[in-house]
Amino acid sequence: MKTIMNLCAAVLLLVMPAVAGAGGADMHLDKAPVNLQDRASLQRGVKLFTSRCLACHGASFMRYNRLKDIGMTEEEVKKKLELPEDVKIGSTMQAAMDTNTAKLAYGVAPPDLSVISRSRSADWLYTYLRSFHTDKTRASGWNNAIFPNVGMPHVLADLQGELELKIENQAGRESLKLVLVSPGSLKPAEYDAAITDLTNFLVFMGEPAKMVRTNLGMIVVGFLLVLFVLVFALKKEIWKDIH
Ligand code: HEC
Repeated sequence: MKTIMNLCAAVLLLVMPAVAGAGGADMHLDKAPVNLQDRASLQRGVKLFTSRCLACHGASFMRYNRLKDIGMTEEEVKKKLELPEDVKIGSTMQAAMDTNTAKLAYGVAPPDLSVISRSRSADWLYTYLRSFHTDKTRASGWNNAIFPNVGMPHVLADLQGELELKIENQAGRESLKLVLVSPGSLKPAEYDAAITDLTNFLVFMGEPAKMVRTNLGMIVVGFLLVLFVLVFALKKEIWKDIH
């Protein structure tokens, strides 16, 4: 009996950090449907990232040849991401604009995005990239609902279109709502899907070892389940004569 109790305690200890880690976020963020096993999504994500974000942001921990982890051959990396001739497959992802020029242009230096998914959660990134709205009081003409007075312009406005932040009055309760006032080249659901891919890639970039860890986690859980069945059978066997 004691062994079973000890085992239960051990299982609880193993599971607890996962449960504790699931909480958090005090403001409303949309849930990012991230799936690191979805290689097609990760490949679309890196394409969007290199074509739309590398102009200003670098990813100094991320080497192009590491994209083999998401199923891309060197040839595919060069071709699909349209790598310039002088960029080597083993080099890290560098921003096109140097930090000082960017700082002059936007007032703030665009941060390196290698591990952004660790300082900002996937949900935050997914919400942020879908929450830009027009703001005439800002020099860039843009603001962001979850990052007030952000220095970054809405670089994906051609895809998403223009959103306005409007006050909505519903049964006497006022709330702020983002409303699409001018459509982009993608439908809202398509834009969300593109941002899912991009967020997926940002999460992969921040923690490539997570894929290995997820698999390991599955094996551990599987092992615990088998152990549970065995221990349960053992318990029944031991108690059978006593009852
Ligand atoms: C035209 C330049 C430019 C481009 C292109 C650009 N950004 Fe930015 N980004 C910035 C600047 C400048 C900031 C700093 C904003 C601030 O701190 O006010 C920023 C901030 C961010 C932040 C917030 C970082 C933080 O935690 O403070 C994220 C996330 C981000 N960018 C993601 C992206 C992604 C993803 C793309 C590609 C779709 C992208 N950016 C393209 C200029 C750019």
